Amino acid sequence: MSPMRLARQARTLMVLGARRAQLPAIQTALAMGLRVVAVDPDPAAPGLALATLAGVYDLADLGAILKLARAEEIDGIMTLAADYPMPTLAAVCAEMCLPGPRPQVVDAATNKRLMRLALRAAGVPCPLSHHASNLEEARKAVAKLATDTILKPAASQGGRGITRVAAGSAPEVVDWAYLRALKETRADGVMVEQFIEGPEFSVESLTHGGQTHVIAVTDKLTSGAPYYVELGHSQPSRWTDAQVESLRRAARSAISALGIDQAAGHTELRLTAQGPVIMEVAARLGGGFINSHLVPLSTGIDLVGACIQVALGDPPDLTPKRPSGAAAIRFLSATPGLVSSIERLGELSEQEGLVEADVYVRPGDLVPELVDAGGRVGHVICRGRDPDHALALAERAMDRIHVLTRAREAR
Ligand SMILES: Nc1ncnc2c1ncn2[C@@H]1O[C@H](COP(=O)(O)OP(=O)(O)O)[C@@H](O)[C@H]1O
Ligand SMILES: [Mg+2]
Repeated sequence: MSPMRLARQARTLMVLGARRAQLPAIQTALAMGLRVVAVDPDPAAPGLALATLAGVYDLADLGAILKLARAEEIDGIMTLAADYPMPTLAAVCAEMCLPGPRPQVVDAATNKRLMRLALRAAGVPCPLSHHASNLEEARKAVAKLATDTILKPAASQGGRGITRVAAGSAPEVVDWAYLRALKETRADGVMVEQFIEGPEFSVESLTHGGQTHVIAVTDKLTSGAPYYVELGHSQPSRWTDAQVESLRRAARSAISALGIDQAAGHTELRLTAQGPVIMEVAARLGGGFINSHLVPLSTGIDLVGACIQVALGDPPDLTPKRPSGAAAIRFLSATPGLVSSIERLGELSEQEGLVEADVYVRPGDLVPELVDAGGRVGHVICRGRDPDHALALAERAMDRIHVLTRAREAR
């Protein structure tokens, strides 16, 4: 059979985004024998060169993307770890009758105001919250809650524009946090939320034909107050079976409250003395190498592959393909300034348990203050006997990589 004919027989998956975070989707789909149409606004995005066919469009450009999707007769569409393309994805699914989350599901999974409404209506525990569209509303909301609060953009991700404000703070502090969140919001102003105390988790899931499979529960490490930048994840969870089960149950109820019936799920929660409280739910796989790296290492399941199957309307294959264990990622940070050098102490490849180490910056690059995920400068991923061991190894690997900076000269 001619290669041309073979190519036409293969099914086609469109992947929205072709930057680094999307590479596992593009590479896995190609390895599954699919044709891959990748779309990214940046012609230099690395996934475009790997894909069968590349489209250079803004991921919100529904007209252009739909035209390409129709021309290529795609069988499914997906994106990994990014909210921005989700409305386009849902609209393409709706227009072409493809499997995937419906537009109203994506609205609730990308807009925290709608998300809170859906969760509250279904009785799913989530923080008390108010929506603010100006400074006065923000101040009033903070006063009304009378607890420590989190101010955050109604629509954003990656921890951008998040600030914890202590109860009783001066109005200027509230104003500062409000403006910081407003600057990052893609839509719909700012959320003012009751601060929920407790350790943080995420629950990784896949829902196909209305049936939700919970794949893993991830323990999280953040930079803490006031910005809560995610600095590490580990699997499996170190908490008790009963606690983990309560997190799985809470995630299931959140997924059902949002109406997610054909999509991956990434649910973030805190565990309080009264039980789990939902921070947010995404109708897609989470980022931070959780699903591309930690899930396969800890469960043996190819979750990205299974997610591709769900995007094509096939039942996901959730059988472990390789040994399971424990895995952890730690993100690297550095003193803000210009990168002067990157030092690796000893032969990193000899580090026990090391799966991957990467530094995102080069000499001369600017390291910003660590106020969101954009301030992280690299990561290390390790496997270990158990999650504590994997974390300890990742910390040891992290300590061997030094990103040195010097202060930026005053202008
Ligand atoms: N109501 C809240 N109570 C406690 N911590 C919160 C609350 N909202 C957000 N956070 C903290 O801020 C982080 C980022 O908030 P999140 O809503 O997940 O935003 P993003 O979509 O940018 O990830 C959370 O992981 C958590 O650490
Ligand atoms: Mg989050």
